[in-house]
Amino acid sequence: MTFRDYDAQRDLDSVKRIWRECGWIDDDDEAAFLEDFFAAGNTLVATIDGEAECSVHCTPGTIAYQEETLDLGAVTAVTTSHISRKLGFARQLTAQALARQAEAGMAVSALGMFDQGFYDKVGFGTGAYEHMVHFDPANLKVDNGFRPPKRLTTKNFPEIYTAMLGRRKGHGAVCLTEPRLMKAELNWTVKPFGLGYYDGPGGTLSHFIWGEMKGEHGPYSITWRAYQNNEQLFELLALIKSLGDQVNSIHTLEFGELQLQDLLKQPFRHNRATAKGLNEQSIRAVAYWQARILNLESCLASTHLPGPGVSMNLVLEDPVSEHLPDSSNWRGLSGNYIVKLGPESEVKPGEDKSLPTLKASINAFSRLWLGVRPASSLMITDRLAAEPDLIKSLDAVFHLPRPHLGWDF
Ligand SMILES: CC(C)(COP(=O)(O)OP(=O)(O)OC[C@H]1O[C@@H](n2cnc3c(N)ncnc32)[C@H](O)[C@@H]1OP(=O)(O)O)[C@@H](O)C(=O)NCCC(=O)NCCS
Repeated sequence: MTFRDYDAQRDLDSVKRIWRECGWIDDDDEAAFLEDFFAAGNTLVATIDGEAECSVHCTPGTIAYQEETLDLGAVTAVTTSHISRKLGFARQLTAQALARQAEAGMAVSALGMFDQGFYDKVGFGTGAYEHMVHFDPANLKVDNGFRPPKRLTTKNFPEIYTAMLGRRKGHGAVCLTEPRLMKAELNWTVKPFGLGYYDGPGGTLSHFIWGEMKGEHGPYSITWRAYQNNEQLFELLALIKSLGDQVNSIHTLEFGELQLQDLLKQPFRHNRATAKGLNEQSIRAVAYWQARILNLESCLASTHLPGPGVSMNLVLEDPVSEHLPDSSNWRGLSGNYIVKLGPESEVKPGEDKSLPTLKASINAFSRLWLGVRPASSLMITDRLAAEPDLIKSLDAVFHLPRPHLGWDF
């Protein structure tokens, strides 16, 4: 068994086999786009008899923290073949990928999880609830007009990618810096549809929706969307509404900062009327992504919180160290720190006996820092503890909007 960097010539066929075994691709047409996927970002593989049997693929990007932008390492695909499950490959390779990200200067890492618990072991904490909205487009309460859109196909992937980068970004918004990943993702869309408008500088794509159709009446799914301002958002919503004569339901991740229910007619009545059916109208909350801090200094230097602020000792535990090889220079973030939070925040190693102390896992501290949950909530369900006065101060200082990545990976 060896852990090494992915080599396209040697490993592409093995990686295709792993993805087939995981059920992520079914046929040669889908497999063709793995070349693009793995040419983007970087990948570690674990081998048995020289064949790659587990792979961890990462992609660089950025994450918005309020008005600041931090370097992000996204963990974009973790897969183990049928013959190498439960050997610890996936966990160890993920830990090594995190060390690489930290050494490359990434401040934060993030991923979409298959389930909760696995990535907790390398320091990830669960992100905020996202809302999956299932609605009848005819029930949208928008009365503005819309123009005939342009049709988008997979060939438009560079424009779609650029529009995603230029979209309106709230707290937590992620951008990945690899267009070929988007090319693969769009090509894996079953029965795709894309509609958009070219109002950007020089006639570039400014706002669009992309997703999957199903039958004559749906449900349709919107999987990618971008807009830069409220006018564009409402034009997209009116466009979606225009499908309502034919399509009974649309599934979408709530559009970031909106409460989409505000724009739905009689949501409870329609939920009752459609319950348990193919076109059930509902709003489901699910926390499906995770994140962790890789570089405390960078994250705290980008933290600007109102009020007089809080100073404290931070005793941090980082479980990733258990899964790193002895040769890794990066050992995770376990340690004792002095943290100042406020309009200008900072962290330095050490302990100040005059200050109160917060004890936390990196998982829980990352959630606190991102604004997923307040300290008073995390102390109940996660590994975070402090005297009540400090918890109260942390609740007062961490008043952040709920983070949304807005980019699925
Ligand atoms: C997810 C996947 C990569 C894990 O592979 P694996 O070979 O089981 O992983 P490892 O051997 O490194 O780790 C297994 C350990 O994780 C634990 N584990 C798995 N899921 C867990 C969970 N939800 N919570 C806690 N622990 C979990 C196992 O119990 C096992 O623990 P042990 O080592 O103490 O026995 C593999 O199941 C896979 O390829 N699945 C299909 C593709 C996929 O969903 N990938 C993840 C995308 S986010």
